[in-house]
Amino acid sequence: MNFLSVIEAKRDGHEISPQDIARIVAEYTRGALPDYQMAAWLMAVYFRGLSTEETRALTISMRDSGEALQFPDDGRPVVDKHSTGGVGDKVSLPLAPLLACLGFRVPMISGRGLGITGGTLDKLDSIPGFQTNLEPERIVRQVQEIGCVICGQSATLVPADKAIYALRDATATVPSMPLITASILSKKLAEGLDALLLDVKFGAAAFMPEREAARDLAQSMVTLGRECGVRVRALLTDMNTPLGRACGNWLEVQESVACLEGRGPDDLRALVIECAAHLLAQTGRVKDEEVGRARASSCLDSGRPREKWNEMLRAQGADLRAFERTMSTGDDGTATAEVCTSQAGFVSRCDARMVGEVVRDLGGGRQHKDSTLDLRVGVSALAKSGERVARGAVLCRVHARNSAEAGAARARLGQAIEVSDEAPHESLLIVEVVE
Ligand code: URA
Repeated sequence: MNFLSVIEAKRDGHEISPQDIARIVAEYTRGALPDYQMAAWLMAVYFRGLSTEETRALTISMRDSGEALQFPDDGRPVVDKHSTGGVGDKVSLPLAPLLACLGFRVPMISGRGLGITGGTLDKLDSIPGFQTNLEPERIVRQVQEIGCVICGQSATLVPADKAIYALRDATATVPSMPLITASILSKKLAEGLDALLLDVKFGAAAFMPEREAARDLAQSMVTLGRECGVRVRALLTDMNTPLGRACGNWLEVQESVACLEGRGPDDLRALVIECAAHLLAQTGRVKDEEVGRARASSCLDSGRPREKWNEMLRAQGADLRAFERTMSTGDDGTATAEVCTSQAGFVSRCDARMVGEVVRDLGGGRQHKDSTLDLRVGVSALAKSGERVARGAVLCRVHARNSAEAGAARARLGQAIEVSDEAPHESLLIVEVVE
């Protein structure tokens, strides 16, 4: 294949044939195409975009780069949720066991952190022994037995996305509508789903900061997903402020368990319940989202999803005793520092982008393709927008590798969180449903 002419064609804004797109994906996945050429092509796509036809070809070639999961028809719908990426977005962790308890089968293939947004697999890596690299047969067996699995792309499962995802992260080519569409849908289409709920973020820390662009992305994924036979719906959600009160891999696992125990922050619980309610309605298990919310909420409060979480951890090799011990002592071995307010008032802004950058720079996110993460670092006890605070109140706590880094992060976070005399206008977390 003359790859140079394909780069030139996209650079000059021409359409690439589905056959050429399939070849690019296949060659890159088997290591026959060097990173620098693939990076050049991705950058050309970033600037020139892809037509609907090209996006479909890219998605399908990526899906077909490995095996697809196949589930027997046993009456339980196969469903999943996927987010376009956010700061503090740990919804997948409590949602998978909740959906399993609601009678769904959930083969959740997730990704690693991209840019300043966290990744479900990185969060799960903070659980001692937890395995995310699973063979397709094992994924199907676990889902059949316990109802859910959270794992990653692998050499057998959507390997093209694993390779391209890492390259995009290192070449500033993540925020591209067709590339996000293909990345997310290729993973989801390989799962053999009946229904998919997408959480498409907009705002300061989202890949599509403008709401209109996020809506276009949602529409592109809903349309293509439906053409491929999956009932897809998307929520447009606000990512100007972090979700929950914790950002950082291990800290987010702790907050997810709190959510499963009915102690988590309200916004996290609300989004988890909303996702479950939509999937219940999408699959016709309830007559509408209102009934779905009530069912999801009482299931979450029953404690069964918390037990299911433990079952999932056990099934994926986690050392449950070590996990529970670290959870209960709360000692993660980090140096901590608190950001406190010098004035009483209302929290009027908590900037998700700035918080995400601080967490990444503390070592919780990637600076380059092969960065090793420090899974313990991050920010906890984040004050939420609209909250009333007294003078001297804690606005957040930094967890760092040492006290010098904690101090530097504290200074930056002081700029990210503002307190004013007036309460800010309340902003909605979920602003639209795209079907
Ligand atoms: N999540 C994904 O899986 N892929 C992207 O490209 C962005 C977010």
